[in-house]
Amino acid sequence: MPPRGSTESPRVGVIVVAAGSGSRLGQPAPKAFVDLQGRPILEHALLPIFGLSAAVQVVVVAPAAQLAEARAMAHEVAGVAADFVTVVAGGPTRQASVAAGIAVLEPGIRIVLVHDAARAFTPTSLFETVIAAVEGSGSGVIPGLPVADTIKRAVDGIAVATVDRSELVAVQTPQGFPRQPLADAYATATAEHTDDAALYASAGHPVIVVPGDPLAFKITTPWDLRRAETLASSAPDVAREATRTGVGIDVHAFDESSELWLGGLHWPGEVGLAGHSDGDALSHAICDALLSAAGLGDLGERFGTADERFANAHGEVFIAETVRLVNEAGWAIGNVAAQVVANRPKLAARRDELQRTLSALVGAPVSVAATTSDGLGFTGRGEGVAVVATALLRPLPPQVRL
Ligand code: CTP
Ligand code: MG
Repeated sequence: MPPRGSTESPRVGVIVVAAGSGSRLGQPAPKAFVDLQGRPILEHALLPIFGLSAAVQVVVVAPAAQLAEARAMAHEVAGVAADFVTVVAGGPTRQASVAAGIAVLEPGIRIVLVHDAARAFTPTSLFETVIAAVEGSGSGVIPGLPVADTIKRAVDGIAVATVDRSELVAVQTPQGFPRQPLADAYATATAEHTDDAALYASAGHPVIVVPGDPLAFKITTPWDLRRAETLASSAPDVAREATRTGVGIDVHAFDESSELWLGGLHWPGEVGLAGHSDGDALSHAICDALLSAAGLGDLGERFGTADERFANAHGEVFIAETVRLVNEAGWAIGNVAAQVVANRPKLAARRDELQRTLSALVGAPVSVAATTSDGLGFTGRGEGVAVVATALLRPLPPQVRL
Protein backbone atom coordinates (compact mmCIF):
# COMPACT_ATOMS: atom_id res chain seq x y z
CA MET A 1 0.00 0.00 0.00
CA PRO A 2 0.22 1.92 -2.25
CA PRO A 3 0.80 -0.60 -5.03
CA ARG A 4 4.42 -1.20 -5.94
CA GLY A 5 5.68 1.33 -8.43
CA SER A 6 2.71 3.64 -7.84
CA THR A 7 3.05 7.28 -6.86
CA GLU A 8 -0.49 7.39 -5.49
CA SER A 9 0.11 7.52 -1.75
CA PRO A 10 -3.30 8.36 -0.28
CA ARG A 11 -3.66 11.32 2.08
CA VAL A 12 -7.27 10.45 2.87
CA GLY A 13 -8.54 7.37 4.71
CA VAL A 14 -12.21 6.37 4.60
CA ILE A 15 -13.26 4.12 7.50
CA VAL A 16 -16.48 2.28 6.65
CA VAL A 17 -17.98 0.85 9.84
CA ALA A 18 -19.92 -2.31 9.09
CA ALA A 19 -19.49 -4.30 12.31
CA GLY A 20 -22.97 -3.77 13.79
CA SER A 21 -25.49 -6.56 14.12
CA GLY A 22 -28.45 -4.59 12.78
CA SER A 23 -30.74 -5.55 15.67
CA ARG A 24 -33.46 -3.11 14.54
CA LEU A 25 -33.42 -4.54 11.03
CA GLY A 26 -33.97 -7.98 12.55
CA GLN A 27 -32.39 -10.08 9.78
CA PRO A 28 -30.35 -13.24 10.47
CA ALA A 29 -27.19 -11.74 8.88
CA PRO A 30 -25.44 -8.65 10.24
CA LYS A 31 -26.89 -5.55 8.56
CA ALA A 32 -23.99 -4.84 6.18
CA PHE A 33 -24.32 -8.36 4.75
CA VAL A 34 -28.05 -8.22 4.13
CA ASP A 35 -29.04 -8.37 0.46
CA LEU A 36 -30.35 -5.22 -1.22
CA GLN A 37 -31.42 -5.86 -4.82
CA GLY A 38 -28.82 -8.52 -5.47
CA ARG A 39 -25.89 -6.95 -3.60
CA PRO A 40 -25.04 -6.81 0.12
CA ILE A 41 -25.54 -3.39 1.72
CA LEU A 42 -21.76 -3.12 2.26
CA GLU A 43 -21.08 -3.46 -1.47
CA HIS A 44 -23.53 -0.65 -2.26
CA ALA A 45 -21.80 1.50 0.37
CA LEU A 46 -18.29 0.83 -1.01
CA LEU A 47 -19.05 1.42 -4.69
CA PRO A 48 -19.26 5.26 -4.63
CA ILE A 49 -16.00 5.50 -2.66
CA PHE A 50 -14.20 4.09 -5.70
CA GLY A 51 -15.65 6.96 -7.73
CA LEU A 52 -13.44 9.47 -5.88
CA SER A 53 -10.99 11.28 -8.15
CA ALA A 54 -7.96 10.87 -5.85
CA ALA A 55 -6.92 7.55 -4.27
CA VAL A 56 -7.96 6.90 -0.66
CA GLN A 57 -7.24 4.13 1.82
CA VAL A 58 -10.51 2.27 2.31
CA VAL A 59 -10.75 0.67 5.77
CA VAL A 60 -13.65 -1.75 6.18
CA VAL A 61 -14.54 -2.57 9.79
CA ALA A 62 -16.49 -5.84 9.82
CA PRO A 63 -17.80 -8.26 12.46
CA ALA A 64 -15.04 -10.69 13.53
CA ALA A 65 -17.08 -13.64 12.24
CA GLN A 66 -17.46 -12.06 8.77
CA LEU A 67 -13.88 -10.88 8.20
CA ALA A 68 -13.14 -13.20 5.30
CA GLU A 69 -16.49 -12.48 3.69
CA ALA A 70 -15.95 -8.71 4.05
CA ARG A 71 -12.44 -8.97 2.61
CA ALA A 72 -13.65 -10.89 -0.45
CA MET A 73 -16.45 -8.41 -0.98
CA ALA A 74 -14.25 -5.32 -0.61
CA HIS A 75 -11.63 -6.77 -2.94
CA GLU A 76 -14.24 -7.52 -5.55
CA VAL A 77 -15.60 -3.97 -5.46
CA ALA A 78 -12.06 -2.53 -5.47
CA GLY A 79 -10.94 -4.61 -8.47
CA VAL A 80 -7.49 -3.46 -9.60
CA ALA A 81 -7.38 -1.05 -6.62
CA ALA A 82 -7.56 -3.93 -4.08
CA ASP A 83 -4.25 -2.84 -2.49
CA PHE A 84 -5.97 0.30 -1.23
CA VAL A 85 -8.31 -1.79 0.95
CA THR A 86 -7.73 -2.78 4.60
CA VAL A 87 -10.23 -5.00 6.44
CA VAL A 88 -10.26 -5.20 10.22
CA ALA A 89 -12.53 -6.62 12.95
CA GLY A 90 -14.80 -4.20 14.81
CA GLY A 91 -15.75 -3.96 18.47
CA PRO A 92 -18.86 -4.22 20.63
CA THR A 93 -19.88 -0.57 20.04
CA ARG A 94 -19.70 1.70 16.99
CA GLN A 95 -17.12 3.79 18.82
CA ALA A 96 -14.93 0.72 19.40
CA SER A 97 -15.30 -0.19 15.72
CA VAL A 98 -14.18 3.28 14.60
CA ALA A 99 -11.20 3.02 16.96
CA ALA A 100 -10.26 -0.30 15.33
CA GLY A 101 -10.38 1.43 11.95
CA ILE A 102 -8.22 4.36 13.11
CA ALA A 103 -5.61 1.86 14.39
CA VAL A 104 -4.92 0.52 10.89
CA LEU A 105 -4.65 3.83 8.99
CA GLU A 106 -1.49 4.11 6.90
CA PRO A 107 1.16 6.55 8.22
CA GLY A 108 0.65 8.97 5.29
CA ILE A 109 -3.06 9.54 5.97
CA ARG A 110 -3.81 13.13 6.97
CA ILE A 111 -7.60 13.29 6.68
CA VAL A 112 -10.01 10.64 7.97
CA LEU A 113 -13.61 10.13 6.93
CA VAL A 114 -15.82 7.89 9.07
CA HIS A 115 -18.82 6.46 7.26
CA ASP A 116 -21.71 4.13 8.14
CA ALA A 117 -22.00 1.17 5.77
CA ALA A 118 -25.73 1.41 6.49
CA ARG A 119 -25.85 4.66 4.42
CA ALA A 120 -25.64 2.53 1.30
CA PHE A 121 -26.59 5.15 -1.32
CA THR A 122 -24.34 8.01 -0.22
CA PRO A 123 -23.12 9.57 -3.49
CA THR A 124 -19.44 10.14 -4.34
CA SER A 125 -20.12 13.89 -4.40
CA LEU A 126 -20.82 13.93 -0.65
CA PHE A 127 -17.43 12.28 0.06
CA GLU A 128 -15.78 14.89 -2.21
CA THR A 129 -17.59 17.73 -0.43
CA VAL A 130 -16.53 16.53 3.03
CA ILE A 131 -12.90 15.94 2.00
CA ALA A 132 -12.71 19.43 0.44
CA ALA A 133 -14.26 21.02 3.53
CA VAL A 134 -11.76 19.35 5.89
CA GLU A 135 -8.92 20.42 3.60
CA GLY A 136 -10.24 23.97 3.39
CA SER A 137 -11.15 24.50 7.04
CA GLY A 138 -8.89 22.20 9.07
CA SER A 139 -11.99 21.52 11.21
CA GLY A 140 -14.16 18.48 11.74
CA VAL A 141 -16.89 18.38 9.08
CA ILE A 142 -20.36 16.84 9.23
CA PRO A 143 -22.99 16.69 6.50
CA GLY A 144 -26.37 17.93 7.71
CA LEU A 145 -29.83 18.36 6.24
CA PRO A 146 -32.41 20.90 7.38
CA VAL A 147 -35.04 19.34 9.62
CA ALA A 148 -38.32 19.30 7.72
CA ASP A 149 -40.67 18.24 10.54
CA THR A 150 -41.79 20.55 13.32
CA ILE A 151 -39.93 19.43 16.44
CA LYS A 152 -41.57 19.61 19.89
CA ARG A 153 -40.17 19.10 23.34
CA ALA A 154 -42.45 16.62 25.13
CA VAL A 155 -42.52 15.85 28.86
CA ASP A 156 -44.65 12.96 30.11
CA GLY A 157 -46.52 12.87 26.82
CA ILE A 158 -47.39 16.58 26.89
CA ALA A 159 -45.99 18.87 24.17
CA VAL A 160 -44.42 21.67 26.18
CA ALA A 161 -42.58 23.66 23.52
CA THR A 162 -41.84 23.94 19.83
CA VAL A 163 -38.12 23.89 19.13
CA ASP A 164 -36.73 26.49 16.70
CA ARG A 165 -36.17 24.35 13.60
CA SER A 166 -33.92 26.87 11.87
CA GLU A 167 -31.07 25.97 14.24
CA LEU A 168 -31.42 22.20 13.79
CA VAL A 169 -29.74 19.88 11.29
CA ALA A 170 -30.15 16.14 10.82
CA VAL A 171 -26.61 14.77 10.77
CA GLN A 172 -25.31 12.13 8.35
CA THR A 173 -22.00 10.50 7.45
CA PRO A 174 -19.29 10.58 6.08
CA GLN A 175 -17.93 12.79 8.84
CA GLY A 176 -14.42 14.11 8.15
CA PHE A 177 -11.56 15.07 10.48
CA PRO A 178 -7.87 15.94 10.47
CA ARG A 179 -6.23 12.65 11.43
CA GLN A 180 -4.09 13.48 14.47
CA PRO A 181 -6.66 15.35 16.57
CA LEU A 182 -9.23 12.62 15.77
CA ALA A 183 -6.84 9.83 16.79
CA ASP A 184 -5.95 11.72 20.00
CA ALA A 185 -9.63 12.33 20.81
CA TYR A 186 -10.36 8.62 20.36
CA ALA A 187 -7.33 7.61 22.42
CA THR A 188 -8.45 9.73 25.38
CA ALA A 189 -12.25 9.33 25.12
CA THR A 190 -13.79 8.15 28.38
CA ALA A 191 -17.50 8.26 27.45
CA GLU A 192 -19.61 6.80 24.65
CA HIS A 193 -20.66 9.45 22.13
CA THR A 194 -23.51 9.30 19.64
CA ASP A 195 -21.29 10.18 16.68
CA ASP A 196 -17.68 10.87 15.82
CA ALA A 197 -18.23 14.64 15.70
CA ALA A 198 -19.56 14.62 19.29
CA LEU A 199 -16.46 12.76 20.46
CA TYR A 200 -14.24 15.14 18.48
CA ALA A 201 -16.04 18.24 19.78
CA SER A 202 -15.84 16.98 23.38
CA ALA A 203 -12.04 17.12 22.98
CA GLY A 204 -12.46 20.85 22.28
CA HIS A 205 -12.18 20.85 18.48
CA PRO A 206 -14.41 22.83 16.07
CA VAL A 207 -16.89 21.05 13.80
CA ILE A 208 -18.55 22.68 10.79
CA VAL A 209 -21.67 21.61 8.87
CA VAL A 210 -21.78 21.15 5.08
CA PRO A 211 -24.93 20.37 3.08
CA GLY A 212 -25.91 16.69 3.35
CA ASP A 213 -27.65 14.61 0.70
CA PRO A 214 -31.09 12.97 0.98
CA LEU A 215 -29.57 9.83 -0.57
CA ALA A 216 -27.22 9.44 2.41
CA PHE A 217 -30.07 8.20 4.61
CA LYS A 218 -29.35 5.33 7.01
CA ILE A 219 -30.95 1.92 6.64
CA THR A 220 -32.06 1.11 10.16
CA THR A 221 -35.49 -0.53 10.08
CA PRO A 222 -37.22 -3.03 7.75
CA TRP A 223 -39.10 -0.07 6.23
CA ASP A 224 -35.82 1.68 5.42
CA LEU A 225 -34.58 -1.48 3.68
CA ARG A 226 -37.78 -1.73 1.67
CA ARG A 227 -37.48 1.94 0.68
CA ALA A 228 -33.86 1.34 -0.33
CA GLU A 229 -35.01 -1.58 -2.52
CA THR A 230 -37.49 0.70 -4.25
CA LEU A 231 -34.81 3.32 -4.82
CA ALA A 232 -32.33 0.73 -6.13
CA SER A 233 -34.87 -0.76 -8.50
CA SER A 234 -35.89 2.63 -9.86
CA ALA A 235 -32.29 3.86 -10.15
CA PRO A 236 -31.96 3.05 -13.88
CA ASP A 237 -35.12 5.04 -14.55
CA VAL A 238 -33.80 7.92 -12.55
CA ALA A 239 -30.56 7.80 -14.57
CA ARG A 240 -32.51 7.68 -17.83
CA GLU A 241 -34.55 10.68 -16.80
CA ALA A 242 -31.66 12.80 -18.01
CA THR A 243 -29.87 15.19 -15.75
CA ARG A 244 -30.33 18.75 -16.91
CA THR A 245 -28.01 21.69 -17.32
CA GLY A 246 -28.80 25.36 -17.40
CA VAL A 247 -26.97 28.58 -18.15
CA GLY A 248 -27.29 32.06 -16.68
CA ILE A 249 -25.61 35.36 -17.53
CA ASP A 250 -25.86 38.61 -15.62
CA VAL A 251 -24.30 42.00 -16.14
CA HIS A 252 -24.31 45.06 -13.87
CA ALA A 253 -22.60 48.41 -14.34
CA PHE A 254 -20.31 49.84 -11.66
CA ASP A 255 -21.94 52.50 -9.52
CA GLU A 256 -19.52 54.69 -7.51
CA SER A 257 -22.23 55.57 -5.01
CA SER A 258 -22.95 52.04 -3.79
CA GLU A 259 -21.19 49.32 -1.82
CA LEU A 260 -20.11 46.14 -3.58
CA TRP A 261 -22.03 42.92 -2.92
CA LEU A 262 -20.92 39.92 -4.96
CA GLY A 263 -21.63 36.24 -4.39
CA GLY A 264 -23.59 37.08 -1.24
CA LEU A 265 -20.50 38.71 0.30
CA HIS A 266 -19.81 42.35 1.13
CA TRP A 267 -16.58 43.71 -0.40
CA PRO A 268 -15.52 46.72 1.69
CA GLY A 269 -13.60 49.38 -0.23
CA GLU A 270 -14.69 48.14 -3.67
CA VAL A 271 -16.95 50.08 -6.07
CA GLY A 272 -20.50 48.74 -6.02
CA LEU A 273 -22.83 47.67 -8.80
CA ALA A 274 -26.05 49.34 -9.98
CA GLY A 275 -29.35 47.46 -9.90
CA HIS A 276 -32.86 47.18 -8.49
CA SER A 277 -31.47 44.88 -5.80
CA ASP A 278 -27.85 45.05 -4.63
CA GLY A 279 -26.55 44.35 -8.18
CA ASP A 280 -24.98 41.03 -7.13
CA ALA A 281 -24.37 39.73 -10.67
CA LEU A 282 -22.77 36.49 -9.40
CA SER A 283 -25.76 35.47 -7.27
CA HIS A 284 -28.15 36.49 -10.05
CA ALA A 285 -26.32 34.47 -12.73
CA ILE A 286 -26.39 31.42 -10.42
CA CYS A 287 -30.15 31.84 -9.94
CA ASP A 288 -30.68 32.14 -13.68
CA ALA A 289 -28.62 28.99 -14.34
CA LEU A 290 -30.66 27.05 -11.77
CA LEU A 291 -34.00 28.33 -13.05
CA SER A 292 -32.94 27.63 -16.63
CA ALA A 293 -31.91 24.04 -15.82
CA ALA A 294 -35.24 23.41 -14.09
CA GLY A 295 -37.19 25.01 -16.94
CA LEU A 296 -38.60 27.58 -14.54
CA GLY A 297 -38.01 30.70 -16.60
CA ASP A 298 -35.60 33.38 -15.42
CA LEU A 299 -34.89 35.82 -12.65
CA GLY A 300 -36.81 38.70 -14.20
CA GLU A 301 -39.90 36.57 -14.54
CA ARG A 302 -39.71 34.99 -11.09
CA PHE A 303 -38.57 38.01 -9.08
CA GLY A 304 -40.15 40.98 -10.86
CA THR A 305 -39.01 44.48 -9.98
CA ALA A 306 -42.55 45.15 -8.75
CA ASP A 307 -42.13 42.58 -5.97
CA GLU A 308 -41.31 44.50 -2.79
CA ARG A 309 -39.64 41.44 -1.19
CA PHE A 310 -36.74 41.75 -3.60
CA ALA A 311 -36.14 45.51 -3.66
CA ASN A 312 -32.59 46.03 -2.28
CA ALA A 313 -32.46 42.31 -1.40
CA HIS A 314 -29.08 40.60 -1.10
CA GLY A 315 -28.07 37.63 -3.25
CA GLU A 316 -28.83 35.09 -0.52
CA VAL A 317 -32.55 36.00 -0.64
CA PHE A 318 -32.69 35.26 -4.37
CA ILE A 319 -30.64 32.07 -4.07
CA ALA A 320 -32.70 30.70 -1.16
CA GLU A 321 -35.96 31.27 -3.02
CA THR A 322 -34.53 29.84 -6.26
CA VAL A 323 -33.29 26.68 -4.50
CA ARG A 324 -36.73 26.28 -2.93
CA LEU A 325 -38.43 26.58 -6.35
CA VAL A 326 -36.00 24.11 -7.95
CA ASN A 327 -36.47 21.52 -5.15
CA GLU A 328 -40.21 22.02 -5.24
CA ALA A 329 -40.14 21.21 -8.96
CA GLY A 330 -38.49 17.85 -8.12
CA TRP A 331 -34.82 18.62 -8.79
CA ALA A 332 -31.72 18.11 -6.68
CA ILE A 333 -28.79 20.41 -7.44
CA GLY A 334 -25.66 18.54 -8.55
CA ASN A 335 -23.28 21.47 -8.79
CA VAL A 336 -22.97 25.04 -9.98
CA ALA A 337 -19.98 26.63 -11.76
CA ALA A 338 -19.66 30.36 -12.33
CA GLN A 339 -17.10 32.60 -14.00
CA VAL A 340 -16.82 36.29 -13.27
CA VAL A 341 -15.51 38.52 -16.10
CA ALA A 342 -14.27 41.79 -14.60
CA ASN A 343 -11.16 43.84 -13.89
CA ARG A 344 -12.12 44.08 -10.24
CA PRO A 345 -12.66 42.98 -7.56
CA LYS A 346 -9.81 40.47 -7.51
CA LEU A 347 -11.47 37.26 -6.37
CA ALA A 348 -8.47 35.05 -5.60
CA ALA A 349 -7.99 36.16 -1.99
CA ARG A 350 -11.60 35.43 -1.06
CA ARG A 351 -12.33 32.57 -3.43
CA ASP A 352 -12.53 29.91 -0.66
CA GLU A 353 -14.87 32.06 1.41
CA LEU A 354 -16.95 32.83 -1.68
CA GLN A 355 -17.23 29.16 -2.67
CA ARG A 356 -18.04 28.10 0.91
CA THR A 357 -20.72 30.77 1.27
CA LEU A 358 -22.34 30.01 -2.07
CA SER A 359 -22.12 26.21 -1.58
CA ALA A 360 -23.90 26.57 1.76
CA LEU A 361 -26.60 28.75 0.15
CA VAL A 362 -27.09 26.46 -2.84
CA GLY A 363 -26.76 23.21 -0.88
CA ALA A 364 -24.32 21.78 -3.45
CA PRO A 365 -20.75 22.49 -4.56
CA VAL A 366 -20.36 25.91 -6.18
CA SER A 367 -17.06 26.74 -7.91
CA VAL A 368 -16.19 30.28 -8.88
CA ALA A 369 -13.57 31.26 -11.46
CA ALA A 370 -12.60 34.74 -12.64
CA THR A 371 -10.99 36.31 -15.66
CA THR A 372 -10.45 39.70 -17.23
CA SER A 373 -11.33 40.31 -20.88
CA ASP A 374 -7.87 41.49 -21.89
CA GLY A 375 -8.92 45.16 -22.01
CA LEU A 376 -11.68 44.48 -24.50
CA GLY A 377 -15.34 45.43 -24.28
CA PHE A 378 -17.21 46.94 -21.34
CA THR A 379 -15.57 44.66 -18.79
CA GLY A 380 -12.16 45.47 -20.23
CA ARG A 381 -12.88 49.21 -19.96
CA GLY A 382 -13.85 48.66 -16.31
CA GLU A 383 -17.47 49.71 -16.78
CA GLY A 384 -19.03 46.72 -15.07
CA VAL A 385 -19.08 43.05 -14.19
CA ALA A 386 -20.36 40.12 -16.27
CA VAL A 387 -20.94 36.64 -14.87
CA VAL A 388 -21.67 33.35 -16.63
CA ALA A 389 -22.96 30.42 -14.58
CA THR A 390 -23.97 26.85 -15.31
CA ALA A 391 -25.90 24.42 -13.13
CA LEU A 392 -26.44 20.68 -13.20
CA LEU A 393 -29.66 19.22 -11.81
CA ARG A 394 -30.66 15.62 -11.25
CA PRO A 395 -34.17 14.42 -10.56
CA LEU A 396 -35.01 13.77 -6.92
CA PRO A 397 -36.32 10.22 -6.69
CA PRO A 398 -40.03 10.51 -5.82
CA GLN A 399 -39.36 8.95 -2.41
CA VAL A 400 -37.02 11.74 -1.33
CA ARG A 401 -38.82 14.73 -2.85
CA LEU A 402 -38.99 17.51 -0.31
N1 CTP B 1 -21.41 -0.35 13.76
C1 CTP B 1 -20.17 -0.95 13.92
N2 CTP B 1 -19.87 -1.57 15.10
C2 CTP B 1 -20.78 -1.64 16.09
C3 CTP B 1 -22.04 -1.03 15.94
C4 CTP B 1 -22.34 -0.38 14.76
O1 CTP B 1 -19.34 -0.91 13.02
N3 CTP B 1 -20.44 -2.29 17.20
C5 CTP B 1 -21.74 0.28 12.47
C6 CTP B 1 -22.92 -0.40 11.78
O2 CTP B 1 -22.46 -1.54 11.06
C7 CTP B 1 -23.49 0.69 10.91
C8 CTP B 1 -23.09 1.98 11.62
O3 CTP B 1 -22.17 1.61 12.64
O4 CTP B 1 -22.97 0.68 9.59
C9 CTP B 1 -24.30 2.70 12.16
O5 CTP B 1 -24.90 1.95 13.21
P1 CTP B 1 -26.39 1.40 13.24
O6 CTP B 1 -27.15 1.91 12.09
O7 CTP B 1 -26.90 1.61 14.63
O8 CTP B 1 -26.17 -0.17 12.93
P2 CTP B 1 -26.30 -1.38 13.92
O9 CTP B 1 -25.70 -1.05 15.23
O10 CTP B 1 -25.77 -2.55 13.19
O11 CTP B 1 -27.90 -1.51 14.04
P3 CTP B 1 -28.79 -1.59 15.37
O12 CTP B 1 -28.42 -0.40 16.19
O13 CTP B 1 -30.18 -1.61 14.86
O14 CTP B 1 -28.39 -2.88 16.05
MG1 MG C 1 -26.50 0.59 16.52
